Parts: sequence; C-alpha cells; structure tokens
Amino acid sequence: MIKKRTIKKNPDLLIVEKFKEVLADWKLEPDLFVLFRKIVLTYYEHAGRDLAWRHTNDPYHILVSEIMLQQTQVGRVNGKYPEFIDAFPTFAALAAAPFHEVLAKWQGLGYNRRALAIHQCAKEVMTAFGGELPQDVEILATLPGIGHATARSIAAFAFNMPVAFIETNIRRVFIHLFFGDSLSVTDREILPLVEQSLDTTNPRVWYWALMDYGSALKNAIPNLNRKSAHYMKQSKFVGSDREIRGIILKSFVQNPRQNLYTLVTNIPVEPQRIKRIIDNLVKEGFLFMDRETLAIRDR
Ligand code: ADE
Repeated sequence: MIKKRTIKKNPDLLIVEKFKEVLADWKLEPDLFVLFRKIVLTYYEHAGRDLAWRHTNDPYHILVSEIMLQQTQVGRVNGKYPEFIDAFPTFAALAAAPFHEVLAKWQGLGYNRRALAIHQCAKEVMTAFGGELPQDVEILATLPGIGHATARSIAAFAFNMPVAFIETNIRRVFIHLFFGDSLSVTDREILPLVEQSLDTTNPRVWYWALMDYGSALKNAIPNLNRKSAHYMKQSKFVGSDREIRGIILKSFVQNPRQNLYTLVTNIPVEPQRIKRIIDNLVKEGFLFMDRETLAIRDR
C-alpha cells in the first residue's frame, strides 16, 4: 500500500520507478495493464487534483472546459472557467450572446480562435441538435473547435464513454513508462496502449487519474514530451504576431468599432504589420469593414 505521506515526500518518482522495475520483467500482457491502472489510480486517490470542471457531468460545461484546456494550462483555466460558465451557463445562453461578450470572457486564455469556434459551436448545437450535445464522437468531431481528440475527451468526461484519446499529459505517461529510451515516439504507437489500458468501468475517473499522473511526471522529470515525434517547441510570444493579434482583439472588446488610423496610431508596431494582421482577422471572421470603420462581428 502506498501511503499518502510517501507520495507527498516524493510525489512521483517512487511509484514511477516501482512500475518501471516491474515493467522490465514483464511482456505486454493484460495483467501489466492491471498493474499500470492500479499504480495510476493509487496515485490519483492520494494526490489527484480537485478541478472546477470535475464537479459536473453537464455536457456543455465539459465541452467548455475541454476547449479551454486544449491550449491553456490547467491553473489558468481553473481561474477563468467559472466566470465563463457564470456568464454563459448553457448552450442557449452562449449562442444568444453577442460575440464581443464571448471574446471579453475569453480574455486571459489566449488563442482567441477558440472563442470564435466555441460560439459557433453553441449556435450549431442549438440549430442542428435542439440544444443537446450529440453522444457520438464522429458527430462531435464535426462541430467547430472540436477535433478528433477533443471529441473523445468530451465523450469520456461528459458521457463516461470508453474511448481512447491522447493529450499532452497522457502522452507523457506512456512515453515514460512504455517506451524506454526511444527518442521519437508517435501517437500511432501510443494509441493501442491507451486502448488496451483503458479502464472501461469508469473511463471518466481513469482519464482524470492518467492526466494527473502525467502532470506530476512533468514536475518530476522535465522534457519528457520532447521524446514525442509530435513535439513542437512553443514559439516566443513577446513581439510575435500572436501577441499583436491579442492586443488588437482586446482593443475591440473595449471598443467594438474603430477606424484603422486610430488603431495604427495606438499600437506601437509598424502599420504594414498591423494591416496584415487585421486582414487575417477579417478573413477569419473576427472583424469586418463597415464603410470606413472596422467592427467586431456581431453574432
Ligand atoms: N480534467 C478533465 N479534462 C482535463 C484536461 N483536459 N486536462 C486536465 N485535467 C482534466
């Protein structure tokens, strides 16, 4: 029995090394996954995280949290998610809100394309599915903002469906425990292991545990995900187009209509660069030209 105190003192390495020792002598047999699940679930019982979106099964709330968690760290989402849910408690409320209000509540999460996508998604759920999220991963994956993995994470957390998916924490666990010194592990290699180890009796809790274990591993052993064939270094944010996009969009939250001249004057970046970024924001549907004025989309 692993004691809470032991985990607190040495939160990760103890159980990880114990697993690796056993793994060295075992083949990939079903009981290996029994042991693997036991270790991950024991860790979770003692040191699992209490996160706001884990207190609900509401498919809309789960969808909001999963889209936020795609590209924003857990700590930040934990702060922002309750405010977003307070402002837009249902698909109907989100679908009916003007876009600038949605974007206002998205501030601080980054990657604003997701605000546009989640708004479109709510509208589609209202018009095509009568306000009920479909319980089908293939249909979920057709909705704006929801890709292959997010469709499955929503199905697992909202509907407790035993479907396999990979995200950053899950990837880290499998790379570390099952791939030894390999330096370029693909998700195609990891996915069968995720499938075989899936706890089909309670996939929801299993994935919480797996993610928490992966997050603990990150603190214990840095750079594990560099062994993923899909590893991409985050590009620098300061001075990037992404930062300027964020500044421009934030200015439209405060002031939904502006002329180009004022914008160019207020932002200390070359006018050509601002124009290029605005062109992209228009193409993507965030902004539109209304005579001589730039405006944020209404709905
Ligand atoms: N709990 C539920 N979904 C999660 C996620 N994507 N990341 C971390 N914890 C979660």
